[in-house]
Amino acid sequence: MTLAIIGGTGLTQIEALTITGEERLTTPFGEPSAPYLLGELNGKKLVFLARHGNPHRIPPHKINYRANIWGLKQLGVTEIIGVAAVGGIGAKMAPAVIAIPNQLVDYSYGREHTFFADDLEHVTHIDFTEPYTPSLRARIIQAAQQADISITSSGTYGCTQGPRLETFAEIKRMANDGCDLVGMTGMPEAALARELGLAYANISVVANWAAGVVEGEITMAEIEKNLDVGMANAIALLKATALF
Ligand code: HPA
Repeated sequence: MTLAIIGGTGLTQIEALTITGEERLTTPFGEPSAPYLLGELNGKKLVFLARHGNPHRIPPHKINYRANIWGLKQLGVTEIIGVAAVGGIGAKMAPAVIAIPNQLVDYSYGREHTFFADDLEHVTHIDFTEPYTPSLRARIIQAAQQADISITSSGTYGCTQGPRLETFAEIKRMANDGCDLVGMTGMPEAALARELGLAYANISVVANWAAGVVEGEITMAEIEKNLDVGMANAIALLKATALF
């Protein structure tokens, strides 16, 4: 099993990662967000990719998700953990909480979202009943328990288009739809991994209460402060999971 971590906002690099090499790939779908870093975390070999580029400069709707996932497959990766900053909608999803979602709703649009579009021999519809690979989620949850890292072990992730944050009415609609978390990068990443037969799970780090959940505007200062705490815990969780 070769593990990959896709780091999002607040996780452009992992200091604890011992970097042993770098791969710059081009794919039939264009350029990935950044060179793939080959390294070791807690003694376990893995691949790291900065989803928004390094430095962080590609907004969620401009990320070449297809190139990113295709490149990982080319490198022999079989399982991916996507780390993402999110807004908290559900009562359990307070700032700095780490959640391992088990469901998602996709509100994004206009993104290149499938490998099964052109030059097809036959039309393919992947099963996506469980969008996150249950066995990989279970490993992350067990690693958290063993390492005594506090997490919320389920939840529904809603993927919006961004880059703007949501309106209060949009968040109310998402809450009615059953969403506990709101982010901008969860899709099509999860579906593309499934299309290529790669295991995929998400670690969401809550950066802020979603729009209108508490009074006042959402500020970048607030997001950065909560991500400092949340991402430190997410890295500890990644280290624990790498060993599992
Ligand atoms: N909404 C969407 N994406 C986000 C948020 C949010 O409130 N916070 C961090 N990423």
